[in-house]
Amino acid sequence: MPLRCDQSALWPQLAAHYSSHGQYLDMRQAFAQDAQRFAGFSQSAPHVFADLSKNLWDRDTEALLLDLARDCGLAQHRDAMFAGEAINTTENRAVLHTLLRRPAGLVLPGDVPETAQRLAGVHHTLDAMLQYAEQVRSDAAITDVVNIGIGGSDLGPHMAVRALEEFRIPGKRFHFVSNVDGHELHHVLQGLRPESTLFLVASKTFTTAETMMNAHSALTWFAAQGGRDVARHFAALTTNIEAAGAMGITTTFGFWDWVGGRYSLWSAIGLPIAIAIGAQGFRDFLAGAHAMDEHFRTAPLAQNLPVRLGLLDVWYRNFHGFTSRCIAPYHAALGRYSAYLQQLEMESNGKRVAQDGSLLTCVTSPVLWGEPGTNGQHAFFQMLHQGADVLPLEIVAVRKASHPLPGHQQKLLANALAQTQALMVGKASDDGHRHFPGNRPSTLMLLEALTPASLGALIALQEHRVFVSGSLWGINSFDQWGVELGKVLARDLEARWDSGDVTGLDGSTAGLLQRLRAAPAA
Ligand code: F6P
Repeated sequence: MPLRCDQSALWPQLAAHYSSHGQYLDMRQAFAQDAQRFAGFSQSAPHVFADLSKNLWDRDTEALLLDLARDCGLAQHRDAMFAGEAINTTENRAVLHTLLRRPAGLVLPGDVPETAQRLAGVHHTLDAMLQYAEQVRSDAAITDVVNIGIGGSDLGPHMAVRALEEFRIPGKRFHFVSNVDGHELHHVLQGLRPESTLFLVASKTFTTAETMMNAHSALTWFAAQGGRDVARHFAALTTNIEAAGAMGITTTFGFWDWVGGRYSLWSAIGLPIAIAIGAQGFRDFLAGAHAMDEHFRTAPLAQNLPVRLGLLDVWYRNFHGFTSRCIAPYHAALGRYSAYLQQLEMESNGKRVAQDGSLLTCVTSPVLWGEPGTNGQHAFFQMLHQGADVLPLEIVAVRKASHPLPGHQQKLLANALAQTQALMVGKASDDGHRHFPGNRPSTLMLLEALTPASLGALIALQEHRVFVSGSLWGINSFDQWGVELGKVLARDLEARWDSGDVTGLDGSTAGLLQRLRAAPAA
């Protein structure tokens, strides 16, 4: 088990460094004093170049953070994950989403004995799933693919299918139904015909209430519309093939308990992506992620992009006390990117208890939020520039556009760059309303083009940076017990709906339940 950062001897040293130096750092002066600052704080990784220089740190800060990472055993913890050790301790499971993108036959140092067999299973399922994806692609009768799933069984495929729209097969529409709110499914069903629709029921557990309800409603709709061949029009993507069978779904693609839901888009859960971009596209997506895995696994910590980002996250959250990170992709196709990252980081690291069950003495995950640029500039960027809080901004920009419209891309990229510049440089004015304090942090990540491979690398980068901060905080980034209580209480309230029994409920919940059950008095 790694050493918690708040128990490391480096922790008070970092606190002292922050008090004496870190909190006063002015990036404008730091650039003036260090001609190599951009070079020193930019980092190339597979498919991603990141500029970390417009952030509130300097080489001394990063050196201390790297010492902290060494002291906490970050590299050993990372290696344990790649090797397949059961680092998800509360569920006694390995954490092996990286195996889903590992080339067949590749052996890594320290691999647990089960690895070869697991990897063979990964490729066996991948081949079957990609063959099925190609079959669906060439089936002109199927015009609509509906993914029914929620959380990790929705956000990843939804984000990626949208991001890779340029690579998407023409003639097929993709729909994502996640919410138990019947408006969503109803709206999608209205435009469909059973004979031209493929429903993918995506659920790791095949017990999630929302997905079960939506799947049942879709099956009912299918039968009511005269649909007959469930095996052709429904497929389940799940670790619980038995439960899918019990629902009457016999076309299935499986995966394993060592794939966390929010890390599952590389598994059978990625089937909508594979149908959208084809077998080769999906393999490229996996290859991009694998290239980032190799970077994370082998690059020295000081030149390791996920490590540098994760250390900066700890510095910001625990010493500067920044509570959120604004995510602004400057590419319209990345419209679901911030929603995807919210689950990835906040479900992974939104914890306050260490692996051993003791309470941490430090805070953990920031809030992630955001919208694509330049839209955000005309909405909430005001607060980034002049608000009372400092909110680090993280931009993803893509150098090459895939549309032919002249002038747009240059304007878009100029805006992305101008935001990072304005946040740092600021603008002095005697009129407080027009004064920009500057010295506000931002990171710019740059992709050459938005492709299956670069998206795979970008997402793997984000997974690993979340691993780094979670590992330093000493939490288990791979469970999510915090979602359970609400599920249990929702079941209890649903059961009380008919009877109206409010025994034992608090006053507010009882009052609201009564109001929701009854039409208001005229
Ligand atoms: O409730 C949270 C959660 O378990 C997520 O972690 C997961 O991605 C989502 O629900 C969906 O779960 P499943 O894929 O099992 O339906």
